[in-house]
Formats: sequence, structure tokens, C-alpha cells
Amino acid sequence: PGPSRLQALRLVPMIRRNPIHFFQHMLQAYGPISHFHILREHVYLVQEPEWIEQILVARAKSYHKSPLYRELQRVIGNGLLTAEDEQWKKERRLLQPAFHAKRLQLYGDIMREEAEVVCRRWFDRLARDEYFETDLLAEMMELTFAIVGRCLFQADLSRYTERVKHSLDTALVEITERITQLIPPPIWLPLPGHRRLLRSLATLDAIVQDLIKERMQNPTDDMLSLMLQSVDEQGNAMSAKQIRDETLTLILAGHETTANALTWTFYLLDKNRDSLLQAAREASKVQTGADFREANFLRAVFDESLRLFPPAWEIERRATVTHTIQTSSGEVLIPENTNIAMCIYMMHRDERFWPEPHRFLPERFLEDRRHGFAYLPFGGGPRICIGNQFAINEAMIILSALLARFDVQTLVDPDPAPLVTLRPRKGMPVRIRKRKSI
Ligand code: HEM
Repeated sequence: PGPSRLQALRLVPMIRRNPIHFFQHMLQAYGPISHFHILREHVYLVQEPEWIEQILVARAKSYHKSPLYRELQRVIGNGLLTAEDEQWKKERRLLQPAFHAKRLQLYGDIMREEAEVVCRRWFDRLARDEYFETDLLAEMMELTFAIVGRCLFQADLSRYTERVKHSLDTALVEITERITQLIPPPIWLPLPGHRRLLRSLATLDAIVQDLIKERMQNPTDDMLSLMLQSVDEQGNAMSAKQIRDETLTLILAGHETTANALTWTFYLLDKNRDSLLQAAREASKVQTGADFREANFLRAVFDESLRLFPPAWEIERRATVTHTIQTSSGEVLIPENTNIAMCIYMMHRDERFWPEPHRFLPERFLEDRRHGFAYLPFGGGPRICIGNQFAINEAMIILSALLARFDVQTLVDPDPAPLVTLRPRKGMPVRIRKRKSI
């Protein structure tokens, strides 16, 4: 089921205003699997775990990323997130060792150190006043940016924070604008938005080139040195463009998503004070020596936050060949070039799988962790997020450091903006105090 071509065209303004509202509308009007045409594109909206598993895992080889990712490629080029086939395989193999358990253990120390930097800065401000106000999203972006810089590139990126933040924010807004247009204008047209995008890209490029230059002079065992030294089976080195794309992919994918996830977690905890107290109690235990991996409630809090506000709120694929997928109700033929949109945000709020879907109930992750493809904050199958364990460790370390010591009160009800990631549209203004007793 789905709208006619004409009805679909009439829905375009809704897609532009807020694509999540469009997905909600489609679900209510046509059920969990719907279909529509937009110009010559042929799209299935899929909200069935069984289908999702087929597309991401069982039939993964029959799919590429969808044209949506082509816009993102303007920023991150052909790095791991957007590469396909042999190129993707080669890059995944190259990057995988940086995410092995032993490396993650080393990163833990860096994550703790960087979380302590924020704690010291906040305590300094609280030495003067009873409380202070700040934008939590900006604070978390700065923190996760510093962490990814030190863990993956052994570099202090603090001198770039402001420029990267400004350029990435601008680029992502402009890219989202283009993604939600039915026919985006050619990028060479000198429109103000295009100029802003190109300027931001030039800034990001210059920063990455700086980093590469620095690493060529002082090689270490970081990701950049690894890329600079790597040769493939034919003895070819990685091209400068490929190194640039991979570096930018890791910097972007490695900090934006986690910063958003942390920000939403603080927001949800503030609105659910019983959970906050329980999480803060566990956080204190971690601060006094318990292993963060044993903080089960805190982990459930983070899982539940990723359910309600998944930073990667949608993923899309495009069939490269005509094939069938198997579902319990039979076989479905998927013609070549069909686009499949999977709205993770909506899947995570489907009441068939999540009782009281809009409530923040971390307990649901304590009772049962088997949610299959009704829960996919990190995607699934071969293209599952390479940084998922990195992100979970990072979140647990940061949450324990901050929750044990500070009370974070949100000052507005944020408007979730489904840009490239799901972020609070105007940041997250908060008031911060020392935590008194738990
Ligand atoms: C892929 C989510 C953190 C690097 C993905 C995908 C999702 C995702 C859903 C799959 C996209 C698709 O199938 O189209 C998240 C979330 C994070 C997070 C919610 C934090 C809470 C990270 C971190 C890094 C990272 C910390 C790196 C340090 C990547 C890369 C890919 C990816 C390189 C592409 C993997 C591939 O295609 O082989 N992420 N991510 N992510 N993520 Fe993450």
C-alpha cells in the first residue's frame, strides 16, 4: 500500500518540514510497509524487523547505500561510511584493528582524562557561583571531539574545535537542506547556501591537511600514520584524497553521534528523576573504583536513550540487483534500484515491540536485551557501526564522571531536529550545580 504519484508529490512539503512526521503519517495511513514513487525513484518505507534483518544482513550484498548518502559524500567523500564493495572491504579491514578490545582499553584512560578536564572546568565555575548555565550539546561536542582526536589520531584537536564545530554545523544544515529538496539545484550554482557549504568544506579540508602534514613529520601508531604507511595487495599506497576522506569520516562519525546521544541522555534523566538518582548512585560507585562495565542500570539508561532519540535516526539502502526477500508471509520481489528507507526513530517507538513506547523506562533493557531488529541504534549486518563499542564505553565513562558530581537541569523542552543526525534544534541550554547527596 501507499500513496499515488500525485498524493506522494503533495507530501513533499511535509518531508521538507520534518521527515519524521512524514514517516509517522505513512505508518498511520498505510501500515509498517508502504511504497511510493517520487519522480522516477521508487521507495519502500520499512518498519518490520524481519524485513530490516533481510536487507541489512541476509541480503546485504544486494544493496548499496541510497542516493541520500551522495549528499553526505560531499562532506566526507568516499570514507568507510559511504564506500562500497571492494573499496569498503579494504577500508573496513584497515580500520578494524583500531577498534579491537585491547585498543578500546587504552582509549578508556584517555576518555577518563578528558571527562576529568570537563569536571575541573565545571568545578572551577561552581567555585564562584552556586550554578552556571551552558549549552550541553556544545560541551558534549567539544568533549567527544577531543576524545576522538586523541584516541584515533593521537592529536590535540582543541585548537580546531571552534572552526570544526562551525564548519560541520553549517555543512550539515546545508546538506540536510539539499537532501529534503525534491530536486536539489546543481552544486555549482552560486547560491548563498552553496557558498556556505563550499566555504565550510574548504575549512575542514585545510584542517585535515594540517593534521596529515603533522603526522608525516611525526609518525606514531595512530590511524593517520597507519593510513600513510598502508599499501594494498598490489603494493599501492592510499591516495591523499582517500586519507582525507577517511580522516574526516572518523572525525565526524566519531564525535557528532555520541555527543548527541549524551545530550539526550542528560535530558531524559532530568525528566525522570527516579532513574536519575539510581543512575547517579551507580555513577558514584564507578567513581570510587567499580568497573563501568558492571554499571548495569547506567548502561540500560544509555540503551533507552538511544531507543528514544537514536542519533542515526534513519538509514537507507538501494537494491543493486532484482532479488527476493523472505518474510514469514512469503517472498517479496524487490526490483533493482528500489530504495529502502528504514526509520530507526519510528521502529524504536513501535508499540508492537515497545510497550508504552514514548516513556523512558530503562528497566526494559534490564529485563530483556533481545530486541533483534526492532532495536538498531548502530545499524546491523556487515555495515554495522564500527565504533559502537567505542561509543558505549565513552558514554559510560562520561556519564559516570559527570552524573556522580553534577546535577544537570535542562532549561527548555528541546525540538528534536532530524538533520543528518537527530539533534536538539537549538542546542540544550542547561543549568549545572554540584550534586548534593544521592
Ligand atoms: C556506521 C550509529 C558512534 C564510526 C554507523 C551506522 C549507524 C551508526 C546507525 C550505520 C549506518 C548505515 O548502515 O547506513 C552510531 C551511533 C553512535 C556512533 C548512534 C554513537 C552513539 C560512532 C563512533 C565512530 C563511528 C564513536 C568512530 C569512532 C562509524 C563508521 C561507520 C558507522 C566509520 C561506517 C561503518 C561501515 O559502513 O563499515 N554508525 N555511530 N560511529 N559509524 Fe557509527
